[in-house]
Amino acid sequence: MNKSARLSALITLSLGAATAAATPTTAPDNSATATTAAMATAPTAATPDQAALIEEARTAVMALGSTLKRELQAAMKAGGPGEAITVCKTRAPEIASAVSEEKGLGIKRVSLKNRNPEAGVPNEWQTAVLEDFETRKAAGEAPDQLAYADVVDNEFRFMKAIPTEGLCLTCHGMELAPDIRARIGELYPEDKATGYQEGDLRGAFVVVKQLAEH
Ligand code: HEC
Repeated sequence: MNKSARLSALITLSLGAATAAATPTTAPDNSATATTAAMATAPTAATPDQAALIEEARTAVMALGSTLKRELQAAMKAGGPGEAITVCKTRAPEIASAVSEEKGLGIKRVSLKNRNPEAGVPNEWQTAVLEDFETRKAAGEAPDQLAYADVVDNEFRFMKAIPTEGLCLTCHGMELAPDIRARIGELYPEDKATGYQEGDLRGAFVVVKQLAEH
């Protein structure tokens, strides 16, 4: 089975928890990936562990996403976007660490055009998934539905796309106010995270969890 078919199969699985009964599936033609094939043909029969891990990852993504957005909106209201940039810089990594610790997994955000020069840079598999999200979006899938799940080398991996909203354009849009552009340039001389329009994929949440040996 080629890579993109395999990703789709797993994504079907990841969405299976919510839409198991309604999810049409097709049998992959290559039995070399028997586990994946079994998952894809019968998402309802995915091992309880897999379904539970996906649920756990989704909960962590929601916790991080909603906390970030709440703090961002509060900072914008209290001190304007200049103040909110500082909050994004200091609070975003802190909130990600806090959620990781609380949920017993690793969660962060990455982007093909990252602003944070360390945490925001996707590794090879994350890049492949981000590119796959772009392909699927171009083929008509809804940006807020794009997700991915897999187990590799005993590590559970989950990604969920982050669509660009109107709120994001002040700091990630096509035309930034001069003071915002200047402040971002000062803090992030290597910034790549501008030029977005509403509905574009800004990046993705990444969840990883090391599974127990067995
Ligand atoms: C007030 C300015 C501001 C707004 C508004 C804003 N961001 Fe950001 N964003 C930042 C800054 C600053 C960073 C870098 C944070 C860091 O240093 O970790 C960032 C980083 C990110 C990252 C991490 C990946 C990367 O590029 O390094 C994502 C994903 C992201 N923002 C998405 C969004 C989304 C989605 C919205 C709208 C809901 C949004 N941002 C609104 C300033 C902003």
